Amino acid sequence: MTTPAAQQETSSATITFDGKSHVYPLIRGTEDEVGIDIQKLRAETGLITLDPGYGNSGACRSAITFIDGEKGILRYRGYPIEELAEKSTFLEVAWLLIHGELPTPSQLQEFDREITRHTMLHENFVRLFEALPADAHPMPVCAAAVGALATFYQQPETEQNLHDTVIRLIAKMPTIAAYSYKHSIGQPFMYPVNQLDYAANFLHMMFATPCEEYEVDGVLARALDLLLILHADHEQNCSTSTVRMVGSSRANLFASISAGISALWGPLHGGANQQVIEMLENIAREEGSAEKFLTRAKDHNDTARLMGFGHRVYKSYDPRAAILKRTCSEVIARVGISSRLLEIALQLEEIALRDDYFVSRKLYPNVDFYSGVIYKALGIPVNAFTVLFAIGRMPGWIAQWLEMRRDPDFRIARPRQIYTGSAKRPYVPLDRRG
Ligand code: CMC
Repeated sequence: MTTPAAQQETSSATITFDGKSHVYPLIRGTEDEVGIDIQKLRAETGLITLDPGYGNSGACRSAITFIDGEKGILRYRGYPIEELAEKSTFLEVAWLLIHGELPTPSQLQEFDREITRHTMLHENFVRLFEALPADAHPMPVCAAAVGALATFYQQPETEQNLHDTVIRLIAKMPTIAAYSYKHSIGQPFMYPVNQLDYAANFLHMMFATPCEEYEVDGVLARALDLLLILHADHEQNCSTSTVRMVGSSRANLFASISAGISALWGPLHGGANQQVIEMLENIAREEGSAEKFLTRAKDHNDTARLMGFGHRVYKSYDPRAAILKRTCSEVIARVGISSRLLEIALQLEEIALRDDYFVSRKLYPNVDFYSGVIYKALGIPVNAFTVLFAIGRMPGWIAQWLEMRRDPDFRIARPRQIYTGSAKRPYVPLDRRG
C-alpha cells in the first residue's frame, strides 16, 4: 500500500490528444481531496476545459473552510461547525476565519473593542439612504452603501489601512442593514449602542425607537449570533467567488464585497431564505397541503421548486440546517408566536425525505430551509432576510479576499470560452440588409 505522500509524488493524470500524451500532476489537499493540476494544459496542448457552473473546477487552494458534501461535514479552519455553534461567538469566529487561529483572550477583547468603536456611519450616509425609494429592497441598498464606503475611505492599500477596512466592514454592516430597514418603514435611524454586543446591537438598531425603552432579549440575540456563525463562510460559493474575482483585478475590498452582496441577492443563493418563507406562507394560505406543493415542485413543467432544498455541494443533510432545525422550536417557544410555518416546513421535509424524486437526486434541506422561520420569529421583515446572511458572510468574504491577495499564485481571474458564434463574415452595409 502506498502512503498519501508517495501517491502524491507518483500519481498523475494523462490526457491524450492528437496522438500525443500529456501528463499532469495530481494535487492533494489536507483531507485527501485530489485534483488535476492543468495549469500548463493550454500552453502544452492548445486545449481548454469546459465546465459550466464550475462544478468540477478548483479555482484556488484555500486553507479557510472544508466541506465534505457527501458526509455533511463543515469546518472553519479545522473546527467543526457544530462545536463553533455551541461554544463560540460570531466575533470569535470572524477572527478565526480572518487570522486562521482562535483568538487569545486579549486579542478577542481588542477585536471586540475595535469593532464596537467603528459601528457608526458618517452622517452623510443618511442622505444616501434618503435618496433611494422607500420601498427599495435592502439588498441593493446594502450593496450600494458598502460600495459607497469606498468613497469615504480612499486611503492607499497599506497593511494598516487594510486592517481598518476589515474592522469597518464588519462593524458597519449591521448599521447599514438596520438603516436600510428603518428607511423602508419611515422610522428614524437608531445609533449603535456601545455597551451591547454585536447581535444585540443589531436588534436594537432594528427595533428600538427614540420614543421608548427597548430591551434586547438575550435568548433572541444569541439565536441571531448563532445564525451569523453558521453563515460565516462556505468556501467557493457564488458570492465568495464573485468577491475573489472582483478583487483579483486589484479592486478594493469595499468594491469587491459590494459585488459579493449583489451575487448573494439571487434566489438560487442567499435570496433562497426569503423564497422559503414566501413558499411556506403560500402553502399555508393557498396550496392547502405540503403534499400538493411537493407535486408541483417535482414537475419540471411547473416553475415551483422546493426552496431551501438541494445544494451544489451537499449531497446529504446540510449540517447547518440540522443545527437550525433545533433552534427553530426554541426561538418560537420563546417568542410565543404560532408555529404554523415551522409545522409546514417539518411536514415538507418529512415527506420529501421519503419521496424518491428528492432521495434519488440527493436533495436535502439546506441552511435556508429553517433560517427563514427563525428570522420571521425574530421579527425581521422578509425582504431583509438575505441581509442577515450578508452580515454573517462578511468575515468569510474578507478572509477569502485576503487569502486570494496573498496567494503566491495570484493572477487576475480570467476564464476562457468555447466560441460558438458566427464564423468570420463580411460587414453588410445598412441599405443591403433586411
Ligand atoms: N426542488 C425541486 N427539484 C430540485 C431542487 C428543488 N429545490 N433542487 C434541485 N432539483 C432537481 C433539479 O430539477 C434537477 O432535476 P433533474 O435531474 O431531473 O433535471 C436535479 O434536482 C439537480 O438539480 P440542479 O439544479 O442541476 O442542481 P444544482 O447543483 O445546479 O443547483 C441549487 C443547486 C441549490 C441551485 C438547487 O438545488 C436549487 O435551486 N435549490 C433551491 C434554491 C435554494 O434553496 N438555494 C439555496 C442554496 S444553500 C444557500 C447558499 O449557499 O446560497
